[in-house]
Amino acid sequence: MTLRFAILTASDRSARGERPDLSGPALAELVKSRGWTVVRQAILPDDLIALRETLSAWADRGDLDIILVTGGTGFAPRDITPEATRAVIDREAPGLAESMRAASLQVTPHAMLSRGVCGIRASTLIINLPGSPKAAVENLQTILPVLPHAVELMHDSPDAESHH
Ligand code: MTE
Repeated sequence: MTLRFAILTASDRSARGERPDLSGPALAELVKSRGWTVVRQAILPDDLIALRETLSAWADRGDLDIILVTGGTGFAPRDITPEATRAVIDREAPGLAESMRAASLQVTPHAMLSRGVCGIRASTLIINLPGSPKAAVENLQTILPVLPHAVELMHDSPDAESHH
């Protein structure tokens, strides 16, 4: 099953061109290594309105299964990714965020500092990931195996039952 992804990097410094975006490309590489496609990629500042508008516009186009957002999940005053995500989702998917934090706790106690949320807008799954390339990839790896079934379920596919 081919999954269609978009990747959004939330970072003031990368948006200003002061720091190269390493996380977006690292996530794209992991997605493509599974044979899935990256439909679009962008870098935005940690700005609530910009993030909210982009997330809803991308989800509403109907050409994506999953949007990955990397960065802005921590405790810094400008970290706003979870709030932007919560503002646009119809239904939360707490199991994905819980699993990523649980697995990440085996790597670092700093996993507790990620406030990332996951949820569904229409039939697009939005997933928050931490900002560093290492953390973003580690977190995505945790949930990768369940993503095809998650997408089948969102599309109400008749095949979904057979994977239970
Ligand atoms: N999860 C994993 N697997 N590996 C990591 O190195 N870093 C943590 C955490 N989750 C980390 C991780 C750190 S240091 C922080 S502050 C939070 O994610 C939030 O990151 P963000 O502010 O870049 O979004």
